[in-house]
Amino acid sequence: MRPPRTLVVRSVRATDLDACAALLALHDGGPAGAEPDLRARVRAWFDRPDGCFLVATQTSDPADPVVGYARAVHLDPSPTAPIGYYLAGIVVAPTARRTGLGLCLTRARLAWIAERADSAWYFTNAHNTASLRLHESLGFHEESRDFAIPGVTFAGGRGVLAHLTLDDSTCPTANRR
Ligand SMILES: CC(C)(COP(=O)(O)OP(=O)(O)OC[C@H]1O[C@@H](n2cnc3c(N)ncnc32)[C@H](O)[C@@H]1OP(=O)(O)O)[C@@H](O)C(=O)NCCC(=O)NCCS
Repeated sequence: MRPPRTLVVRSVRATDLDACAALLALHDGGPAGAEPDLRARVRAWFDRPDGCFLVATQTSDPADPVVGYARAVHLDPSPTAPIGYYLAGIVVAPTARRTGLGLCLTRARLAWIAERADSAWYFTNAHNTASLRLHESLGFHEESRDFAIPGVTFAGGRGVLAHLTLDDSTCPTANRR
């Protein structure tokens, strides 16, 4: 009998990396033949000792496929964006969307950041309604559209940089650089 449907979020394992590369390919495929590059990117995330790299499954069955991944990292993009902890990439398989996985993965990353800082950042394409709504529902507010993160471009539009204060205070200007 299959275990009941329960969203499970856990740290990534080496055996999950191909599934994560497949999810990355869905979102950020690139040209045919790009698979080795995608696998190398995912492997590099996994090898980073200082980041948060989580995956999600839809039940607690260990044989269940990974249907989502999400990361958080500390970035120093100064002077074009604030130094701090950023939500850094989330992809949920199309067949598993709108079931709460994105929220679970993001809440878990915010808990990880909250152990390290009182503030979290994320950025997305200004046309990415799903991402904007998801993060708004967690309390993120738009901070700027005039920013740049080295190595990141926003296809067909501008990016939105958004901020969330993780304690009870108001958004502290002192967190920005
Ligand atoms: C963005 C993404 C991760 C959301 O994942 P998800 O598991 O579907 O999100 P959830 O089910 O947890 O949705 C939580 C809330 O976010 C908002 N939301 C999610 N998808 C949405 C959509 N397509 N349109 C509008 N709002 C949406 C809703 O408020 C939703 O709550 P609701 O379903 O009760 O209305 C997913 O759409 C995805 O992988 N997109 C491609 C990759 C991507 O764009 N990543 C973001 C880069 S910053």
